[in-house]
Amino acid sequence: MSLLLDLACGGCRKTHDAGTLHNLCTECGKPLMARYDLKAAARTMTPEAMADREPTMWRYREVLPVVNEENIISLGEGGTPLVHAERLGERIGAENLFIKDESVNPTGSFKARGLSMAVSKAKELGATALAIPSAGNAAGAMAAYAAKAGIPAFVFMPADTPSAFITECYGFGAHVELVDGLITDCGKIVAERKEAEGWFDVSTLKEPYRVEGKKTMGYELVEQLGGELPDLILYPAGGGTGLIGMWKAFAEMGELGWVGRKRPRMVAVQAEGCQPIVRAYDQGLPDAPEWENAHTLASGLRVPRAVGDFLMLDAIRRSRGCALAVADEDMIEGVREIGTTEGIFAAPESGAVLMALKSLMKQGLADPAERIILFNTGSGHKYVDNMQSLIVNT
Ligand SMILES: Cc1ncc(COP(=O)(O)O)c(C=O)c1O
Ligand SMILES: [Zn+2]
Repeated sequence: MSLLLDLACGGCRKTHDAGTLHNLCTECGKPLMARYDLKAAARTMTPEAMADREPTMWRYREVLPVVNEENIISLGEGGTPLVHAERLGERIGAENLFIKDESVNPTGSFKARGLSMAVSKAKELGATALAIPSAGNAAGAMAAYAAKAGIPAFVFMPADTPSAFITECYGFGAHVELVDGLITDCGKIVAERKEAEGWFDVSTLKEPYRVEGKKTMGYELVEQLGGELPDLILYPAGGGTGLIGMWKAFAEMGELGWVGRKRPRMVAVQAEGCQPIVRAYDQGLPDAPEWENAHTLASGLRVPRAVGDFLMLDAIRRSRGCALAVADEDMIEGVREIGTTEGIFAAPESGAVLMALKSLMKQGLADPAERIILFNTGSGHKYVDNMQSLIVNT
């Protein structure tokens, strides 16, 4: 049973009642974060109890927001493999390299976790239509879960999003609108029209529960590593919800007594053509001004401005991590390297993450013996039209 207490603003800390639909903080416009009775959760989330639970993200039910189990809209999300990447590790000189392979989630990406949670909770709180601005994967996931819930879905994507992302949404019966612009322009349209149309806006971090789904990646990592945290996590950051979610999960697990005080170094990886978080990190800024003329083939990283920028930067700095950018051609090389060594067809976002790790190792910022996690956040299949340079004569 959920031990959800309330929502607290990540900016001004004002609390909000968790019994009604919310977007951003009514006081300051920053993201709201769910709080739970962690003392009570510690009594039931014991190793013995966890051993008997289902291998999906719903095994963490005390620290998830859905109150009535009947409202859970599930397609089998979470419980993804943590692959010991021995061949890739040997090639790059990392002895304890793991890939958290999120591409096996329903709809082929980690977005399934966040959207399963958000759609379930929206249903529980009475939403009758859902709208989302998306770079691609989130739209497909939202459309799938909304279909399963029987709630109409309205998705807004940049017109130049790779066709597989768009076709998939039609396949799930969503109302699709293609926008001449970026995800931020899609977000503006949703914000302008949602009231008149009766849509509940499930934009990442403007809706409080997608991050609760994504945080389960952090819980899973610890369980899969035998109760220990890794040393280093590399994550491809657009809106940053997964990074922020995992950081929240580590704090919660500290309170549950699952982990000690040490935290992994969190590394945000972005694209050379859209790197607002890297720039803000380098300049020591608390938040990240919009990146102009954003472009990259890794559509999930084409996010010029993120509402959770300050939370991401805080997690990166407090963990003594960093932020770095990778060029598109290098991402494709990363995809090839992951594929040829580990048999995983990764999204370009994840190719970027591998190249970022190689760069950290070269600079002596990652140690060969450390336990390192690369996130494969999505499958490469939906990007094939944009990765033709993988094709070579053999
Ligand atoms: C494959 C993939 N990786 C990473 C991201 C970025 O995720 P986040 O917005 O949680 O930072 C996205 C977002 O669309 C994505 O589709
Ligand atoms: Zn606030």
